[in-house]
Amino acid sequence: MNRVKIFAPATVANLSCGFDVLGCCLDTVGDEMVISLTEEPSVKITKIEGANLPLETHKNVAGVAVEALLKSYSKDIGVEIEIYKKIKAGSGIGSSAASSAGAVWAVNHLLNNPFTAQELVSFAMEGEKLASGNAHADNVAPALLGGFTLVRSYTPLDVIKLNTPNDLVMTVIHPQIEVKTSDSRSVLKQNVSLKKAIQQWGNLGGLVAGLCTEDYELIGRSLEDVIIEPLRSILIPEFTAVKEAAIANGALGCGISGSGPSIFALSKSIKTANQVAQAIHGVYSKTGLDFDIHVSKINSQGVKIIP
Ligand code: HSE
Repeated sequence: MNRVKIFAPATVANLSCGFDVLGCCLDTVGDEMVISLTEEPSVKITKIEGANLPLETHKNVAGVAVEALLKSYSKDIGVEIEIYKKIKAGSGIGSSAASSAGAVWAVNHLLNNPFTAQELVSFAMEGEKLASGNAHADNVAPALLGGFTLVRSYTPLDVIKLNTPNDLVMTVIHPQIEVKTSDSRSVLKQNVSLKKAIQQWGNLGGLVAGLCTEDYELIGRSLEDVIIEPLRSILIPEFTAVKEAAIANGALGCGISGSGPSIFALSKSIKTANQVAQAIHGVYSKTGLDFDIHVSKINSQGVKIIP
């Protein structure tokens, strides 16, 4: 077996209170990729459909991530990568992470899994570094491990898979404007007041506890971001109106997905998540902007093989 076709999932990073450390994996949105092993020792991107992305290996996030993996592998092998993009670049739902994570997961699978999930996260982070200038792991970790993940530490890398409460459903609106992660990182302040830090780590602990104990009320109370959201939300048209509509229609919480412009809302059932989607649709229809809305259960598996 030297060829595999995979689903590389979209992800929602940060989850309000967990900037650069929390993320979760979606089920209904993602790219497809076909990865093959070859004898010629090189990494080639042979096809990209659905997006205008570079075919040169060193400029492509999937290529760079696979090169990082092969550097740690003892034998000389080659890899060919086909990418069928469905997640738009700059959407805030982990487009670059899906490509990086999908590629390293598939190569590891074809090599009979010589690397741990933690190692795969570190290879995929090289793709994130190329995409945004920063090797954050909060999209690639949930794409690779599935469910909700916490990056407890970056140096050394320590990624923890958290519990996924079964009833949680995500609604994501993606306004069709591009916000580059590097740009939305540049609006952030480098220092945080102790008062805000206390609020943020209280919420982060609350969210992790809520996920582990399946306490939906606690999850809702903890989905609050007093540090990043006030600075970034101004880049997103109608952010406040969307958030108000989501909460008014029963969402547990609502915030910016990753670095935006997508906005996520977490609900306790498909029914509520669909109601939230309708309400957000109503808000966004008035803006004249194009947008997509996705409703997705949490994908607790991560990258998966598809026929
Ligand atoms: N944690 C990253 C950020 C996620 O917010 O910049 C980017 O998708």
